[in-house]
Amino acid sequence: AISLKEKLYEINKAAARFFYVNLSKSKDGLEYFKNRGITADIIKRFGLGYSINSFNGLMNHLNSLGFNNELLERAGLILKSEKSSYYDRFRNRVMFPVLDVKGKVIGFGGRVLDDSKPKYLNSPETLIFNKGFNLYGLNIASKNIKDRKILIVEGYMDVIALHQYGILNAVASLGTALTQNQAKLLKRHADDIYICYDSDTAGQAATLRGLDILTDAGCNVFILSIPMGKDPDEYIRAQGKEAFEKVIEDALPLTEYKIMKNSDKFDLSLTEGKIAFAKACAQELILINDPVIVDAYIGKISSKTGIAVSALYNEVSNLKSSKT
Ligand code: UTP
Ligand code: MN
Ligand code: MN
Ligand code: MN
Ligand code: MN
Repeated sequence: AISLKEKLYEINKAAARFFYVNLSKSKDGLEYFKNRGITADIIKRFGLGYSINSFNGLMNHLNSLGFNNELLERAGLILKSEKSSYYDRFRNRVMFPVLDVKGKVIGFGGRVLDDSKPKYLNSPETLIFNKGFNLYGLNIASKNIKDRKILIVEGYMDVIALHQYGILNAVASLGTALTQNQAKLLKRHADDIYICYDSDTAGQAATLRGLDILTDAGCNVFILSIPMGKDPDEYIRAQGKEAFEKVIEDALPLTEYKIMKNSDKFDLSLTEGKIAFAKACAQELILINDPVIVDAYIGKISSKTGIAVSALYNEVSNLKSSKT
């Protein structure tokens, strides 16, 4: 007998096919993608689809293939209402299948065609869909990595737009903060990780803090700053590939980026501000084990504040010993 996991893979594959075929018949779905500049070739490459506006379209289809509702519920594709009747989770949305690194469909994201909420609906965690262990687009990116570099973006549409413009090494973190397991997965394919989050990202500081996970996994992390409050999809479509590559070239190493952010937060014309800035920077420097890098940053902080290099070293080593 085949395992439950194998069944869930089969169900997701059948669902992806159903969504894909339905997109080819959906005026609204095709028009939506067309308006966003997505070509037929990309629809095929990413297996994009459409979930029809029905409470049991997918359910009926998968039932007819011999999958019962209990299984479909385990796959996260249907839900049970209060009256305990089942209905499709994804309705009237353009669909993005999420594939694991081996190319198996493990879940879906679905986007509304208008401004209604929630904008994206994702498959829940299932036996085969563990968001913290996967990255959207890694199946494609892993085959196209040069120089062991990967770009991390926020969204499905960002991965796809970059791909369309010939930047093939982008993955998205599936709407959650990066996990240790995702960092390990990335490290298998890359050493340099370029973070390319939306410039509008709320709580960017908190997000950046989460990136220490990548440093801990042994990656070199760089931060892109996309101009004009845009996300990678909007920026590359508006400005083109060369402009985007320039943004990549201008990426700052994570530590430097954090130090720059800190210098915006404090008034460096005041002694208090200089002290607070230096202390905040020291908090970042205790995370770095390479003494050459620490030395280089201490030099920079010293010249920004006029605080002696030796005092900054003491601050860092005091902080380090108080942590252990
Ligand atoms: P964004 O809000 O930046 O959306 O969320 P986007 O990708 O730019 O979407 P478009 O361009 O308007 O289509 C980034 C990512 O966060 C997750 C999705 O993975 C999305 O791609 N997200 C966002 C959700 O899971 N649910 C949401 O309601 C919103
Ligand atoms: Mn955003
Ligand atoms: Mn977007
Ligand atoms: Mn976005
Ligand atoms: Mn947006």
